Amino acid sequence: MLIIVMVACAAAGIMALNLISSELAGRAGMSRSGRVLLSAGLGMGVIAVSLKVFIVGYLMEKTKDLHPELHGIQASPAPQLYSRHLESTFTGKWHALPAAAPTPGGQPLRPELVALGQRLFNEKGLSTTGDVACSSCHKLEAGGGDDARVSTGIDGLRGNRNTPTFLDAAFLSRLFWDGRAGSLEDQAGGPLTNPVEMGMPSLDAVEDTVRALPGYAGDFAKSFGEPQAITTDNILHAIASYERTAVSPDTAYDRFVRGDTTALSPKQIRGMALFAGLGCRTCHLDPTFSAAGKIRPAGVFKPFPIFSDNPYVRRYDLASDRGAADAESKGAGLWRVPSLRNVAQTAPYFHNGSVATLEEAIRIMVVTQLRKSVVATTGNEQPAILWDAGRQTLTPYRPRVVSADDVEALAAFLNSLSVDASNTALSRSP
Ligand code: HEC
Ligand code: HEC
Repeated sequence: MLIIVMVACAAAGIMALNLISSELAGRAGMSRSGRVLLSAGLGMGVIAVSLKVFIVGYLMEKTKDLHPELHGIQASPAPQLYSRHLESTFTGKWHALPAAAPTPGGQPLRPELVALGQRLFNEKGLSTTGDVACSSCHKLEAGGGDDARVSTGIDGLRGNRNTPTFLDAAFLSRLFWDGRAGSLEDQAGGPLTNPVEMGMPSLDAVEDTVRALPGYAGDFAKSFGEPQAITTDNILHAIASYERTAVSPDTAYDRFVRGDTTALSPKQIRGMALFAGLGCRTCHLDPTFSAAGKIRPAGVFKPFPIFSDNPYVRRYDLASDRGAADAESKGAGLWRVPSLRNVAQTAPYFHNGSVATLEEAIRIMVVTQLRKSVVATTGNEQPAILWDAGRQTLTPYRPRVVSADDVEALAAFLNSLSVDASNTALSRSP
């Protein structure tokens, strides 16, 4: 490509030169030495332009190679270009989460189907050992996840990934840490047949099991309006329908964005300004604070850890599981940017659940994703932060290094995206 452009430039240059020296210069009655001078001057110009094209092209190729696995999927920019990219995206309107999650084809959720789904979600009979339900790992009283590093399924077996919350999952276009499922229906089949979760040999076996469990035939017939309604698709659709109603109640953040300026404390507002100013918002985009939000999607997958030359990566083993990155590629793993809704209740953190506190998770993000320094001292800068309630914009705050106060403020802000753990009622204000 580059070569073709250069050759074309050179050819055009030579043709123009010829034209000028034979036609124009002749007509203008230029002397022989004048013609030579003109041609030489123009020639240098052509060479300089070609050189520039070459250098710019070379640099573009070079920066592309930093994250080869990202080609074609909305690559996050190469580090050199990062700060410029961030400038253009961290400002702008903040959004509250809508009252209801999107449904397939915008169809309303029928209450009897949701009730059936909820029953299946809590049904231990769907595991081979009869003691593990979806709700064994996804507990409402634990923010929709569990408190363990990795989850425990049938026979005490452990998986290798942390349990994410199922609350508000219906707002996401890709599910699982590595984004391998594209819908809630698609996702629900995974745990049922996962050998360390619910252990069913196949989805057909799940179907047979539901048929054999008492009381389901009638509920299925009623929900789907036909007598033989216990099918795999219907089972998964019922579970997914329940999950679409598992929307967490309004958070302080949502109330603030909708106009209640007392909903966030000054510290939380400072955290919000930092969240924007540092660039967290390029990946964790409101209102889901994921990049995989169905509303305002932002590229779903991002590399993690982008900068691995720091002690965190080894201490918490953050780089050995590479998520959705293809096995042959080099460099960082590739992960769906998770939602930060209810994050204060879903410790421990990251795909392997290796990090116990929210503050430490924040420090890791600052260092591995943004290459900013975190210092243990408190900062005494008091930035002027302005919330424009009409436009729903906030002045971003971008300190040179991230202080202990800043980490605390970020954590306070993330707390405002979480509902109180004691609040297990599901529904938000319209
Ligand atoms: C043994 C514990 C366990 C059980 C049982 C379980 N899950 Fe999960 N769930 C997990 C783990 C661990 C993940 C993340 C796995 C991964 O990303 O590889 C997950 C992921 C999910 C997600 C994706 C959330 C997101 O943000 O990506 C949803 C939704 C979900 N589970 C729903 C269910 C449903 C529905 C059931 C029952 C059919 C179920 N789970 C059973 C542990 C469990
Ligand atoms: C370049 C994209 C990117 C940026 C910028 C970014 N994150 Fe993340 N964040 C991710 C990804 C990807 C993960 C999932 C990592 C994993 O566990 O595999 C994540 C995970 C997290 C988690 C853990 C979530 C959980 O449930 O375990 C928190 C908390 C978090 N980010 C907060 C922040 C904060 C605060 C900032 C700004 C200081 C930030 N992130 C900046 C991409 C980003």
